[in-house]
Amino acid sequence: MSAGNSTSSNGDSYDDLHQSYGRCLHNGGFIERFYAIFLDSHPEVKVAFAGTDFDRQRRLLRRTLSNSIMYAAGSEIVKREVDKMAEIHSRRGHAPVQPHLYDHWLNSLIKAVGEFDPQFDAQLENRWREAMGCIIGHFSSQY
Ligand code: HEM
Repeated sequence: MSAGNSTSSNGDSYDDLHQSYGRCLHNGGFIERFYAIFLDSHPEVKVAFAGTDFDRQRRLLRRTLSNSIMYAAGSEIVKREVDKMAEIHSRRGHAPVQPHLYDHWLNSLIKAVGEFDPQFDAQLENRWREAMGCIIGHFSSQY
């Protein structure tokens, strides 16, 4: 998997994260594990996902995570899609997400990556937090 030719203004294409994500997906079960951790992370999360079709949601998340890394890398291609997701998670959208819940989302993601990426370490954790901080900051500001 690659970030294409798009890089952020500081020239960082986050290739290390695309690779880490690839390792997470390699043996299967990563996305399922993420949702199990996330749903357990806060009672409001479980409520929010009551009635969700998880087959669809899992397929969505696979793509969403690639897009989120590309967004952090400054890719123009995914900007429109990320804006749409921000709208869906805003007060006006059909799945509003109070900004404080993003901490749980991110901590759940880090935990799942830690379990699935054999090369996970503190530096990679910081890199994931930095990249996902971009999209979370954007969603929160649009709430
Ligand atoms: C940066 C973090 C997140 C990203 C990138 C993200 C992305 C998405 C995307 C792409 C969808 C599908 C929208 C659609 O087409 O209907 C979605 C749906 C949803 N998300 Fe998120 N999300 C994030 C965080 C969260 C958090 C923290 C919650 C907490 C409750 C949440 C709850 C939901 C719910 C309830 C849905 C709707 C599921 C359904 O249709 O049944 N998301 N999200």
